[in-house]
Amino acid sequence: MSEINSADLMALCKRRGFIWPSFELYGGVAGMYDYGPLGCSLRNNIVEVWRSIYKGREGFVEIDSDTVNPREVFKASGHVDEFADLITYCKECQAPFRADHMVKDFYDNPDILSPKQLEEAFVKHNIRCPECGGELGPVDEFNLMFRTNIGPGSARVGYLRPETAQGIFVNFPNLYRYNREKLPLGVIQTGRSYRNEIAPRQGMIRLREFNQMEVELFVDPEDKDWSRFEEIQDETIRLVPNTTGELVEMTVKEAVDKGIIANRVLAYFVNTTKQLLLRLGVDPQRLRFRQHLDDEMAHYAADCWDAEVLLSYGWTEITGIADRGCWDLSRHAQFSGTELTHFKKFDEPREVEVTKVRAKHKALGPLYKGKAKDIAAAIESLVPGDVKDGKISLEIDGEVKEFGEEFFEVVTVKEKVAGERVVPHVIEPSHGLDRIFYSVLEHAYEYDAEKDYTVLHLAPIVAPIKVGVFPLMEKDGLDDVARSIYEGIHTHRVEAYYDGSGTIGKRYARMDEVGTPWCITVDYDTLENGTVTIRDRDTTEQKRIPKDEAARIVDELLSGKPFAEL
Ligand code: ATP
Ligand code: GLY
Repeated sequence: MSEINSADLMALCKRRGFIWPSFELYGGVAGMYDYGPLGCSLRNNIVEVWRSIYKGREGFVEIDSDTVNPREVFKASGHVDEFADLITYCKECQAPFRADHMVKDFYDNPDILSPKQLEEAFVKHNIRCPECGGELGPVDEFNLMFRTNIGPGSARVGYLRPETAQGIFVNFPNLYRYNREKLPLGVIQTGRSYRNEIAPRQGMIRLREFNQMEVELFVDPEDKDWSRFEEIQDETIRLVPNTTGELVEMTVKEAVDKGIIANRVLAYFVNTTKQLLLRLGVDPQRLRFRQHLDDEMAHYAADCWDAEVLLSYGWTEITGIADRGCWDLSRHAQFSGTELTHFKKFDEPREVEVTKVRAKHKALGPLYKGKAKDIAAAIESLVPGDVKDGKISLEIDGEVKEFGEEFFEVVTVKEKVAGERVVPHVIEPSHGLDRIFYSVLEHAYEYDAEKDYTVLHLAPIVAPIKVGVFPLMEKDGLDDVARSIYEGIHTHRVEAYYDGSGTIGKRYARMDEVGTPWCITVDYDTLENGTVTIRDRDTTEQKRIPKDEAARIVDELLSGKPFAEL
């Protein structure tokens, strides 16, 4: 376990305006936090890195769908029936608890235990209410979705979305058309999701209103390759396969060749998740990918890996990367009655045997005259499965009529076809933005107890403030020079911070504490020779640079130039 005390970090976050408990004025609500000014910047920077990878490098498209959805969406997705945690209440004080969390010290995977097994575990291990020591009651299912009504009254039930993903799936026809009916089709979405968590107690890890950055990649079910796989196949990843439960480090290629990760496209996006998290500043030694056990897998997943980071709370999932198979589109097709498929063209037209229902025109003509053509077309739109006991039923002029085999036949013929319709499979890296935000902070956090000094070693790309700009004194024109340097650097993408108060040491400390990578100080030498000092947060090394080149030099540093090479 890391030695970082999450309470200290949360206190810093609150004091310096990263995050604040929501509704504090009214006593707060568990599992809800607001982002302050620095938190907003840090969070937006994380989103931008994610966007640059998916939209920039992979060419995915982005959408923004509604957060309130009608019940039908979540009935189809399985959330209405399946999206529940197990709850128990204390018989004495009535406090609610997540039943699996109560036994986590005794089982490796308590979330696979049934309600009955959990009740037995309470007795066997003498587990009592952590609040008052009372006996725990029966274990029940508790659906995590927030329910609401759409429109006045209770006519139409709706839910706040528990994941952004469904907004992408229900837009598949629009997205497929937009992509000119081609696969692969990659779509990203970031936004709020809502889960009425039973007992959120771990700061930003378990929120009731949270942010996701989700990626849905629709692929041909028979082609789970990725054209860029070879570019990354020799990169190493730290995996915990479900067969051994042991951490192993291997190349991405080895993981696929040995059948540890199900396919190349899934492996590619496990690795992309690693690249994203490392770019954001997650410590590589505190990152691993754990494969779900078969009975831990979500109702839709064919293979699933969690990116887990080591935090003061222990190993914590921050991203889930799943091969969701054809679950999503098949279910929405079934529940909406709309075909959600991809037309997969063959390289060459193929001759295939097709069994179909064919109308007997000669029998229909004399009997149905002018209507015979339409009836024949209706018959030929049926499939062999529609024939029941040698008869078919059709609705004609509002009346259901039966037709016997004198009017149709089931034939097997050879036909040339250009392609076939397939239900795309979905590969999904689902990132929890708030958990990533917190992990980035914890892995950047360093507290020197002897000096009572805190530094956040944030990666410059995510740091909310990139440069602190100080005049040594707010007089003799030093402040004017400092302000003009500040104005030359500060934009909405490169945030600078002007600070003219307190000793220089205090000003450095204020910037170190919020993770500002560099500070520029204007002193009396600046008036003499036009140079300023620039200080590096992590080494505290200082150099002199021309004041008129400060903005360009900050740009170079942000592009990755080492401070030592200035
Ligand atoms: P857990 O088992 O920790 O509840 P989960 O398996 O339910 O997580 P997913 O359903 O896979 O999580 O959700 C995808 C991602 O969304 C997670 O990896 C996580 O980062 C984030 N997430 C899920 N629930 C929450 C929450 N209550 N608060 C903050 N982030 C969450
Ligand atoms: N879309 C995956 C999840 O949020 O569970």
